[in-house]
Amino acid sequence: MNILSNPHQLQEISTQLKKDQVSIGFVPTMGYLHEGHRALLKKAREQNDVVIMSVFVNPLQFGPNEDLESYPRDFEHDKQVAIEEGVDYLFHPSEEEMYPEPMSVIVKVERRTNCLCGRSRPGHFDGVATVLTKLFHLVQPTNVYFGKKDAQQVAIVDGLIENFHFPINLVAVNTVREEDGLAKSSRNIRLTPTERQEAGILYKSLSFARAELIKGTDNLEILKKHVVELIERESSGKVDYFEILSYPQLENVKQLTGEIIIAIAVQFSKARLIDNIIFKI
Ligand code: PAJ
Repeated sequence: MNILSNPHQLQEISTQLKKDQVSIGFVPTMGYLHEGHRALLKKAREQNDVVIMSVFVNPLQFGPNEDLESYPRDFEHDKQVAIEEGVDYLFHPSEEEMYPEPMSVIVKVERRTNCLCGRSRPGHFDGVATVLTKLFHLVQPTNVYFGKKDAQQVAIVDGLIENFHFPINLVAVNTVREEDGLAKSSRNIRLTPTERQEAGILYKSLSFARAELIKGTDNLEILKKHVVELIERESSGKVDYFEILSYPQLENVKQLTGEIIIAIAVQFSKARLIDNIIFKI
C-alpha cells in the first residue's frame, strides 16, 4: 500500500491511472475507522481496479463550538485497516497541505440543507462539499462510496456530482450497526457506559416510527412528539431533531407515499449521535 500526503502527487498518480483506463474506487473518510468504513472499503474493492481512501479531519466542516480538536484520531490503526481491506493508495494530508492558505472560493450548498443536520450545523455541508470538490479533482474517481448513515450527506453529494458534472458514480452503502441497533460511529467512543446502554433507543425509536407509518398513522406531529418524549424518558440524551421527510429531496411530506426518511439526532454529554432509516411506503 502506498501512503501519500501531497495533493499534487496524488493527482499525478490518478491522472496516469485514468490514462491507463483503470477504474478508481474512492472512499473519503475522517479516519478512526470502524466496521462502517470497512463496508465502504469492501464495496470499493469489489467494484474497482484500484482503491483510494482519504483520511482527513476536515476543519472546514466543523463549526466554532464543535469537536474539531477532540475528534478521535488513530492513524496507525487506520493504516492497518486500510491494509486489511486492500486499499492501494492511502491519502493522509496535513491541514497545511490541503489548505496552504485560506480558500478564496468555496462551494455553498443551497438545497437539501435547511433541515436535519444542515439546520443544526450551519456551514457544515458547505465544508463537506468544498473538501469533496477538492478530493474529487485530486482522485478523479470512477465510483465514490458513502454511507447511508449520513443520508443528508449522500443527498447533498448527489446534488454536487450532478450540478458540477463530475463524471462519477455515487454508491450509497447500508448503515452498519451494533447488535442493539446503534449505528457504528467514530463518536460512539465518547459515550459513557450508561449512555452507551441508552443509545440503542435511537434505532428502536426509528423502527417504532417506521412501523407506525406503515400501519397508516397520518398525524406526524403527534407521532414525532410521542417519540421525542419516549427517547427523553428512556435516556439522558436530548433530542436535537426528529424528522419525517421525503428522500432524497428532504422536504416535508403531505402525503406519505414514495421514499421516506425518518432521521434523528440526539445530544449526549460528549457525543451527538445521528441515525436514520429510509424506506418506501
Ligand atoms: P466519516 O464520518 O469518517 O465517514 C466516512 C464515510 O463512512 C461516510 O460516507 C459515512 O457515511 C460512512 N459511515 C460512517 N459510519 C457508517 C456506518 N455505521 N455504516 C455505513 N457507513 C458509515 O462523512 C465523513 O467522514 C466526512 O464528512 C467526509 C465525507 C469524509 C468529508 O470530510
